[in-house]
Amino acid sequence: MRKYFLIISSFILGTLGSTAQNSGIQSTVKDVETKVDSVLNLMTLEEKVGQMIQYNGSWDLTGPASEVGNKEKEDRLKKGLVGSMLNVLSVEATEKAQRMNMENSRIKIPLIFGYDVIHGYKTIFPVPLGETASWDLEAAQESARIAALESVAQGVNWTFSPMIDISRDARWGRIMEGSGEDTYLTSKIAVAKINGYQGDDLSDPKTIAATAKHFAGYGLAEGGRDYNAVNIGKYELHNVVLPPFKAAADAGVATFMNSFNTIDGIPATGSKSLQRDLLKGKWDWQGFIVSDWGSISEMIPHGFARDKIHAAEIAVIAGSDMDMEGGAYEAGLEQLVKEGKIDEGLINEAVKRILRVKFKMGLFEDPYKYMNANLENEVPYDEHRKTARDIAKKSIVLLKNENDLLPIKSSVKKIAVIGPLADDKDTPIGNWRAQGETNSAVSVLEGLKNTEFNSKITYAKGVALGQGERSFLMPLEINKTDRSGIPDAVAKAKDAELVIMVLGEDAFQSGEGRSQANIGLAGLQLELLKEVQKVNKNIVLVLMNGRPMEITWAAENIPAIVEVWQLGTESGNAIADVLLGKYNPSGKLPVSFPRAVGQEPLYYNRMNTGRPANDLHVTYSHYTDITNGPLYPFGFGLSYTTFNYGDVSLSSEELSEGGSLTLSVPVTNSGDVKGKEVVQLYLHDLVASVARPIKELKGFKMVELAPGETKTIEFIISEEMLKFYGASEKWEAEPGEFKLMVGGNSEELKTVKFNYNK
Ligand code: NOJ
Repeated sequence: MRKYFLIISSFILGTLGSTAQNSGIQSTVKDVETKVDSVLNLMTLEEKVGQMIQYNGSWDLTGPASEVGNKEKEDRLKKGLVGSMLNVLSVEATEKAQRMNMENSRIKIPLIFGYDVIHGYKTIFPVPLGETASWDLEAAQESARIAALESVAQGVNWTFSPMIDISRDARWGRIMEGSGEDTYLTSKIAVAKINGYQGDDLSDPKTIAATAKHFAGYGLAEGGRDYNAVNIGKYELHNVVLPPFKAAADAGVATFMNSFNTIDGIPATGSKSLQRDLLKGKWDWQGFIVSDWGSISEMIPHGFARDKIHAAEIAVIAGSDMDMEGGAYEAGLEQLVKEGKIDEGLINEAVKRILRVKFKMGLFEDPYKYMNANLENEVPYDEHRKTARDIAKKSIVLLKNENDLLPIKSSVKKIAVIGPLADDKDTPIGNWRAQGETNSAVSVLEGLKNTEFNSKITYAKGVALGQGERSFLMPLEINKTDRSGIPDAVAKAKDAELVIMVLGEDAFQSGEGRSQANIGLAGLQLELLKEVQKVNKNIVLVLMNGRPMEITWAAENIPAIVEVWQLGTESGNAIADVLLGKYNPSGKLPVSFPRAVGQEPLYYNRMNTGRPANDLHVTYSHYTDITNGPLYPFGFGLSYTTFNYGDVSLSSEELSEGGSLTLSVPVTNSGDVKGKEVVQLYLHDLVASVARPIKELKGFKMVELAPGETKTIEFIISEEMLKFYGASEKWEAEPGEFKLMVGGNSEELKTVKFNYNK
C-alpha cells in the first residue's frame, strides 16, 4: 500500500513539475496519452468501473429518483468508486464531494461535476429555440461563454449542452431546448455553443466541458411524444440527424450523451453502430459518452435487455462510457469481466476516455481548480444582463404587422397590457433554467413601464393560464374555468387606443416530458383574445412560448403578432425595445409554424413526393381540409423596414469537380429605417441516387442596411455543399442539375440553376 502511494504521488508530482515547466502551453496529445496510460495501469478493476459511474447529488432532481442512498454514495466516493457527479451545486458542495474522494480514496482521481446549463446559469438567456431565431452565431457563442463562467463560479465544470437534436414536431416539449428543424443551422449553432463553453483551452478554469446530446434521433420521437420510438431510415439518419453531431465532434466537444429512444428498434444507448463504429470509429472522436439518466437500465423496459447486468453488457459493448444514475454498471461490469463475458479492454477503453477529458481539463494538476470561491465576486453579472438583453431582442421574430401598427407610435395615448403572461416574471425564465431564480425575469409589463410610455399603461391579467403549484417534474394544471377577470380586461381594452396581449405557454408547458397533443393557446386564452378583439381591433399579440404554436385564428384576426419565445432574465426590456422600435426586429423562425396540429411533423425541407401538384382532383399529396404549407415558414421574420432582392447571378452555369461558383444577389433596404436581414441560401439536387428534399439551407449571411442602401451578397458554391449520404453510403456530390434559391425566408425565393460535372 505504502509503495502504491509513493507511485501515485511521484506520478502527480511529475505532472505538476511538467506543468510548471510548460506553463501556458497546452499538454500535447502524446503527453496526455502517456499520463492516461500511467493512471490506468495503477487502477484495479473495481476502480475502473467506478470511473464509469455518475451519481446525482440529490440537490436537484432531473430524472427519476435514484435507488442508491446518500450514505452509499458517500461510501463509494470515499473509495474512489465514482467518476462524476451531477447536480452538485456551489463551490462548497463540489469541494466537499471532491475532498471526500481525493482525501479518502486510494486512487485519487478527481471527479467532474455535470449540470444542465442549457440557456444560462444565473443570468438566463433565451431558450435555445429562441436564441437560434437570432441566427447570430456570435451571440450563441457569447451566451455559452457567460453561462460557463457563471457555472464555474459555482464549481460546475461540465454542462449537458448543447442539445442538437433535429426536431420537426411542435408537439415534442423539448423542441424548446434545441435549434429547431434545420440540420445546417443546428450544426452552426452547435459549434458556436461548444466554442463558447469550452473556449480554446479546456484547462482554462473559466471554461467548462460541453456535451453534444442526445446521440441520436431523440428529437424525432413518433407522435412528438417524449422518449418514444424513432423510426427513420438510414438516409434520414445520416443526412438530417447526424451532421450536427459530426460538426460537434469535429469542433472537439469533450463529451457526448446518448439518448433514451430506440432507432429502428435498437435503443440508441445500446447501439454499437452509432457509438463505437461511427462516433468513436469512423469519426475518430476521442471524448467519452455519458448515458442519459438511467438510459442503460431503461433498455430493460425497452425489451432489449433482460436485467441490469445484461443492460451493462450491451451498453459497454456499444460504447457507452459512463452510466448516469442507472445502476447498471455498478451492478454488472465487474462480474461480466470476471466471468469472461466482456473483455477488460472494453473497460480500459472507456476509462481512458474519461481520464483523457479529466487530464485535458487540468484536473489532475489541481482537482480544486474549478472551485474558486473568489470567482463569484469577479463575475460581471451586470454586464451579463446587458448581453442577455441584447441577445433577447435579437431573438424576437415579427410575424405580422398590418397597417404598421408597430412600432408603437409616440402619439398613442393609452395602452392596455392584457393577458396571463403580461406580468409573468417566471415564464420568460423558461424550462431547463439551471439556477435562474423563480420570478426573476423582467415581465413585459415591467419592461413597458420602464419606458416613456409608463404613464399611458393600464393592465389586466384577464385569465390565469395555470393553476395550482408548478414544478419541474409535474404536469401543469391549466385553468379552464375561472373567467372572472375577463370583464375587467375587456373594459380596459375598450378604454385604450392599443392593446398588447401577452399570451402563449407557461414555462412548464415545454421542456422534458412536456409533450402536448394540442399546441394552441391553452385554457381560456383564446376566449379572452376573442372577447378583447370584439371591443378593440388594435391588438398586438405578444406570443411567449417554447414551441411553435397553432395560432391560426390570431393570424387571421389580429393585426400584429410578435413571437418572443421565453427570452430569459431581460425578457420584458428586450420586448419593449422591439415594440417601441428601439430595436428593429431581425429574428427569423428556426421552425415552421403550423396551421393545424394535424400537420405535424411539419418542416420545410421535405420530399417532393410522386404527386406534389394539384391536378384538380384529390389524388395528390395534400390534406383536403387545409393547405399543405405552414402558417409561417422556416426562415420567416419581418422587419420595420422591407428588403428587396434583385436578380440572382451565378459566375457560371457549370461547376466542375474541385471547382467553385460565386452566387451574387443584390439586397436593398426599400423602407425608411435601418434594418438587418438574414439572407438565406437553399439548394435542391434535382435528380439523385436517393430522393433529395425540395430545398435545404446551405448558407446564410446577416446584412445591415440603411434606408435605400443596396449591398451585393455573395455565396461560394462548392462541391462540399452538394454532398449528401446517398446510395453509395458515402458523403458524395453526384453529378447533375441543381437549383439554388436565395431569399429572406424558405418560401419567397429567387432561383438559378447550374450543372455539376465530374
Ligand atoms: C435527462 C435529459 O434527457 C438529459 O438531457 C439531461 O442532461 C439529464 N436528464 C440530466 O439532467
